[in-house]
Amino acid sequence: MARSRTQDRLASMRGLLKRFTTPLLPDDYSAVLNPLWSTRELRGRIEDVRRHGDVVLLEITPGWGVQTNFKPGQYIGIGVEVDGRYVWRSYSLTNAPDSNQGRFSIAVKAVEKGKLSQHLIGTASPGTAIRIAAPAGDFYLPNPVPAKIAFITAGTGITPVISMLRGMQERQEFGQSDVVLHHSVRSLNDHVFAEVLEQFAKDIRIHIRQTSIEGRLQAEDLEQLEPDLRQREIFACGPAEMLDYWQQWAGDDVAFHSERFSLQRSSDAEGGTIEFSNGGKATAASGTTILEAGEAAGIPMPFGCRMGICHTCVRQLEQGEVIDLLSGETHESGQRVRTCVSVPKGDIRVQT
Ligand code: FES
Repeated sequence: MARSRTQDRLASMRGLLKRFTTPLLPDDYSAVLNPLWSTRELRGRIEDVRRHGDVVLLEITPGWGVQTNFKPGQYIGIGVEVDGRYVWRSYSLTNAPDSNQGRFSIAVKAVEKGKLSQHLIGTASPGTAIRIAAPAGDFYLPNPVPAKIAFITAGTGITPVISMLRGMQERQEFGQSDVVLHHSVRSLNDHVFAEVLEQFAKDIRIHIRQTSIEGRLQAEDLEQLEPDLRQREIFACGPAEMLDYWQQWAGDDVAFHSERFSLQRSSDAEGGTIEFSNGGKATAASGTTILEAGEAAGIPMPFGCRMGICHTCVRQLEQGEVIDLLSGETHESGQRVRTCVSVPKGDIRVQT
């Protein structure tokens, strides 16, 4: 694979530093000078923290080498040290690429038993150093923007849409598209982005639904409000059940896009025996990833985010086939695979 200019710059800086810093690694020195500099991993620093009920809004300054250009609607991965170990999660960006002085903005909602979200809600403070996985994701508006758009969101599912709206505003695209947003919140107290949405009230139609009073948004209600709903390009983000509901409603004849962060474990891969190059062996049932099976068998394997974004876990597939649950692609012998999201399709052999 061709190396990017940034990777080349990182490599040459690392080489240069190494000449002066051996036997210590360049990072041992660069981190002392500035915790945002690293030649090995992408870093950032939390600059601003605002709490809003069970949501915390974070402003992050990306460190050297982090790609700051992204498509509105994409997410970043963040890794934060919790109890001596880095815990990774991905969060949609809420800013647009050219706004916010090059910072990333994200909103983190407290999730029950969510190690990282609970940690950030409770203790995130300005100055905290974090790790970053570069912006990624397929949930963004096409260029040119569709003539008719319906955003259907719930809770913090609004976050990528906030970025899309900011992006449309920046690119002056509201005149090119008829946009409607239907956003559900439990109550108005949970409407974290109320003030932000007010800025778009003159450009798009916005409907806020309080589910504690009005119940969940149903397709028949929405089709009454928006008679041309099936002609609109739909962008949906929210809880998995909500996305399942609207995806089923859309069927094959409505242009439907959604953002899901949880791994869909169903695939054609039946599982199998995994042989590791260090001699270890594991068995993966259908839907079990190589990383999970290896760990269950006591085989030490590298990992970071455990959700396919940081590439720390990438290993060579030496024999057999696997399915990548995120991309749906089948990988064959000789390819490098993300062990945290890849499941065996029969017996395989993997480098450790
Ligand atoms: S652990 Fe991050 S991509 Fe697998």
